[in-house]
Amino acid sequence: MRALVNRGDGGLGVDLTEVSEPDPTPAELVVDVAGMSVNRGELRLLAARPEGWRPGQDVAGTVREAAADGSGPPAGARVVAWVDQGGWAERVSASVDRVAVLPEGVSFSAAATLPIAGMTALRALRVGGELLGRRVLVTGAAGGVGRFAVELAARGGASVTAVVRDAIRADGLAQLGAARVVFDIGEAEGPFDVILESAGGSSLTAAVRLVAPQGAVIVFGNSSGEAAEISFGDFVGRPGARLEGFFVYASAQPPSFGEDLERLTDFVARGELNPHIGMEVSWTKAEAAFAAVAERRVNGKAVLLID
Ligand SMILES: NC(=O)c1ccc[n+]([C@@H]2O[C@H](COP(=O)([O-])OP(=O)(O)OC[C@H]3O[C@@H](n4cnc5c(N)ncnc54)[C@H](OP(=O)(O)O)[C@@H]3O)[C@@H](O)[C@H]2O)c1
Repeated sequence: MRALVNRGDGGLGVDLTEVSEPDPTPAELVVDVAGMSVNRGELRLLAARPEGWRPGQDVAGTVREAAADGSGPPAGARVVAWVDQGGWAERVSASVDRVAVLPEGVSFSAAATLPIAGMTALRALRVGGELLGRRVLVTGAAGGVGRFAVELAARGGASVTAVVRDAIRADGLAQLGAARVVFDIGEAEGPFDVILESAGGSSLTAAVRLVAPQGAVIVFGNSSGEAAEISFGDFVGRPGARLEGFFVYASAQPPSFGEDLERLTDFVARGELNPHIGMEVSWTKAEAAFAAVAERRVNGKAVLLID
């Protein structure tokens, strides 16, 4: 079978190469992959990992072999799966507790956007706390996680302010439920009960200065790569506010990844969550998709299709 394999050039180079078939454990099924999505974090891994490493965490496709222990969906089921790596391949093994069966009407492309980005948005909001009637700020709102966070928070009853770079990046955010879209965090009118922050640097500093007393700044990324200046004085007037680091692999569990994937796919099937696919290309054009994500040219998610 073929897979995208890291060229190991310190950049975003991959080669479509013949590799060995998956070797599932008894609690893993094997998926014939149809679609997969790209996450900003995976680009960092590509640049850092050695030649021959196989990337890819978000996959959707059809079960080729059910798990040998009898658990999970049967062969032929349409599924979405979260895998640790090696998912950008014609076939991949996936643990049954990180798989959800796709409801009718949810495409492989839409499903492939959900694992990392959808789960990060869902779980980071959970860590932030209650949403009903509360004020939520989302930075990086044009991106994969950001768009899901805006829509999930708005659906949960929050008044959401979204921070994006410009009007092109703002496209569709009002329809997802954003009450306000601003082009600089300095234009956001706080205080906010929950802030999802991933731009880092001056954005993180500004976020702390916008949080309400007892509110939460959930820090889940540093897309800018910049350090933030924060001091005790920034918390004056906001007693009890917390600054919390969020890691999707480690935070807010249980439920299992599979249960949350099922929840997200159900939202999509009911039209309550609308994956925004800003770019969809053949996996033979993967490097073009990586460049577009890295250069902030993709609104929402970039999807790769196996053709
Ligand atoms: N902690 C975790 O477990 C976890 C899980 C998933 C993702 N993440 C992190 O969360 C962040 C978002 O991930 P994603 O996959 O949604 O990425 P993405 O699709 O590339 O979105 C990132 C967004 O951040 C905004 N941004 C603001 N300043 C930026 C800068 N200096 N450089 C790049 N982007 C900037 C961009 O929007 P504008 O162009 O409109 O500014 C872009 O829409 C990333 O940092 C990622 O590593 C963390």
